Amino acid sequence: MPETPLFAALARRRSVPARLLTIPAPSGAEREALLAFALRVPDHGRLQPWRLITIEGTALAAFADHLATCLATREPAADAARLDKERARYAHGALVVAVVARIDAGHARIPAQEQLLSAGCVAYNLLLGAEALGYGAQWLTGWAAYDPAVATLLGLHADEHLIAIVHVGSIREEPAPVAHADPAACVSAWTA
Ligand SMILES: Cc1cc2nc3c(=O)[nH]c(=O)nc-3n(C[C@H](O)[C@H](O)[C@H](O)COP(=O)(O)O)c2cc1C
Repeated sequence: MPETPLFAALARRRSVPARLLTIPAPSGAEREALLAFALRVPDHGRLQPWRLITIEGTALAAFADHLATCLATREPAADAARLDKERARYAHGALVVAVVARIDAGHARIPAQEQLLSAGCVAYNLLLGAEALGYGAQWLTGWAAYDPAVATLLGLHADEHLIAIVHVGSIREEPAPVAHADPAACVSAWTA
């Protein structure tokens, strides 16, 4: 394993489920740096096909309440426990960042796929930045990312898609280790 600190941080990265996060969340200069770093992504054509919406502090509980209302509308059979579970996801006080892909589907040169991938890199950079700063983070989508009422709640336009809801906070409890992809199964060499 290469011994550079950067490579060590990248190799260490793992998701920390939102339920295992707690306060303090990144704040002040650290929060600014994390958000700025997230935008340092490959971006074909420099379209900046992404934007971020933060949800933090007292807004977390209000957002969670709205989400529960959206869920109750789309799933009338959802019981109180299910709605509470949805709210609980935002009860940790962490920094939540909604990553929005802004896709120009009719762009003359840059295919929509490449714009979406650039936005995905923004979400991943949030995970990497969190790891480098000593926080835990998780990339979530779930039903909320595809729900029109949630899109309206966040003020998304017609060409915008919610591709990630990233939670970043201090680690309350270490997550159970997960199996990593096996390079031998995923990497092959092309030969002529
Ligand atoms: C686009 C995308 C959406 C995801 N949405 C969810 C989700 O809604 N719920 C969930 O439990 N994990 C979701 N995950 C997976 C976790 O973020 C995480 O990658 C997974 O638990 C593996 O953990 P690791 O990052 O430590 O390998 C999503 C991942 C991606 C890339």
